Amino acid sequence: MQTPFSLDSRLTLCADFVRVGAKLADIGTDHAYLPVKLTLEGKVLTAIAADINPEPLSRGMQTIEKYNLQDKIQTRLCPGLEGICSDEVTDIVIAGMGADTIIGVLSAAPWLKDSSKRLILQPMTKCERVIKFLYDSGFEITEQKCCIAEGKPYTVMCVEYTAHTNPCTELFTYTGKLNPELYEDKEFLKLQAKLLMKRSAADKKYKLLAEIIKERTDSQ
Ligand SMILES: C[S@@+](CC[C@H](N)C(=O)[O-])C[C@H]1O[C@@H](n2cnc3c(N)ncnc32)[C@H](O)[C@@H]1O
Repeated sequence: MQTPFSLDSRLTLCADFVRVGAKLADIGTDHAYLPVKLTLEGKVLTAIAADINPEPLSRGMQTIEKYNLQDKIQTRLCPGLEGICSDEVTDIVIAGMGADTIIGVLSAAPWLKDSSKRLILQPMTKCERVIKFLYDSGFEITEQKCCIAEGKPYTVMCVEYTAHTNPCTELFTYTGKLNPELYEDKEFLKLQAKLLMKRSAADKKYKLLAEIIKERTDSQ
């Protein structure tokens, strides 16, 4: 369905992972563009736009009112998922936040350990910490993609609970399920290699990881 505005490529990637008929929660919603867009498209059954701060949430309310969606999108002023119950949501987007914030939000909601829930995570920093936390906690990345927004690569992970801990290698925490044959994934992996190279000044083990990733991206 044609809607009056477009999401940027980063939020589009998040939106693509949301299931048709989902009950959506957008945590750290700010302008509420994602729930508004998906509600206008009719992709989601219900949506909750949540934010920890009143100012961004009121920006979200303005967008919701602009498109007259007050009866379709609820807003919640709360940290993470603290104001949301398990039976209200199936798909949870946490985008545009740092790794530690995302890990904090996930840790505080044990009801996410449910294979029927889908997490859509877009960390702005330290993606490797999020991946390590997920695999240590019994979650798995089912799909991972990248995009370029304003010249910068971003990654989005689609995650589900598996009920068994999945040990992952340190290399995997940096590469996830990305495919270096795809341009956007390759650009993100190149950034990871650069970061590891910087870290290798303090600890040589990172040099080997950087070289493995570089070899993968150079061969494509
Ligand atoms: C950079 S904006 C991201 C907005 C949107 N999700 C996006 O990706 O474009 C981050 C938002 O997350 C909110 N936020 C930060 N920590 C949060 C938390 N623990 N729980 C809920 N919202 C949080 C901030 O208030 C801010 O509005």
